[in-house]
Amino acid sequence: MNLPADPRAEAGPTLPGPASADGRSGDHSDGRNTPASGAKWLLETRGITKRFGAVEALSDVNLHVAPGEVTALLGDNGAGKSTLIKCLAGIHEPEEGQMIFDGHPVRIRGPKVATGLGIETVYQDLALCDNLDIVQNMFLGRELTTSRLLDEDSMEKQARQTLAELSVTTVRSIRQLVGSLSGGQRQAVAVAKAVMQNARMVIMDEPTAALGVAQTAMVLDLIRTLRSRGIAVLVISHNLNDVFKVADHIAVLYLGRLAVEAPVGAFDQQSAVYAITTGRFDPATIEASETVKAIE
Ligand SMILES: Nc1ncnc2c1ncn2[C@@H]1O[C@H](COP(=O)(O)OP(=O)(O)OP(=O)(O)O)[C@@H](O)[C@H]1O
Ligand SMILES: [Mg+2]
Repeated sequence: MNLPADPRAEAGPTLPGPASADGRSGDHSDGRNTPASGAKWLLETRGITKRFGAVEALSDVNLHVAPGEVTALLGDNGAGKSTLIKCLAGIHEPEEGQMIFDGHPVRIRGPKVATGLGIETVYQDLALCDNLDIVQNMFLGRELTTSRLLDEDSMEKQARQTLAELSVTTVRSIRQLVGSLSGGQRQAVAVAKAVMQNARMVIMDEPTAALGVAQTAMVLDLIRTLRSRGIAVLVISHNLNDVFKVADHIAVLYLGRLAVEAPVGAFDQQSAVYAITTGRFDPATIEASETVKAIE
């Protein structure tokens, strides 16, 4: 895939500027957030606002996700991370704002619309069936058939091939029940399932939260593999060590607002924690990096 090295960096500041005349920040009409020619975001949200009754879980969020990159979505508990990815996955529909996917405005009215676009979400509970084997899980709801019989051979072949492409080598048999897999292996099956559905963007909510050291390393490798295949990866994580190992870009939500969005190089652990806990970007780092600004 012919991608620019860093479309966001070329585009200059990646944050919405001061509030515009109508009082809404993040007006993109000035082109500030438009990637340089030839580059484009796979997904862009513009002014996404989502309310649950009186609670505004997301306020005017402008997020940018590029293909072939890992974007880490950070934020404290209740910051709105899960709500945002549920909007992208078609589980929630925002009250306000727009989503642009592959250059086109889209309304993601349900999970089928999301998967139709190639947006696959791997939730923390993974939604796998313990009592089914790996192949059955990977083809659940979209089984291959030949003359109304299940085409087990083709499904096995595709499942094996996808796992091999993702360099998942620790699974003993693809006919193993998913209930007998380790946490990392379960993640791998969930990711493989998403990838098999021609994913263009894979969203992962806390993929390493419950994993040990070796399993975490395996999942981080998976994420790198997805990136190398040109897939956009949006990953939620509270583990900054993991984030710094794989992320190309970091977006921080604070109380439902996008506090900062910048290349990973603009952060260190300290400034990331500062942004997560205060919604502000460390002034010293701002001076050091002209490509980032914080919303006041
Ligand atoms: N279905 C819902 N109904 C009402 N309020 C909700 C609902 N889902 C989320 N919220 C509220 O929206 C806000 C954001 O929640 P969200 O789950 O998106 O946070 P989060 O960043 O994923 O947090 P965590 O790190 O704890 O998973 C919280 O105040 C939460 O209480
Ligand atoms: Mg959450």
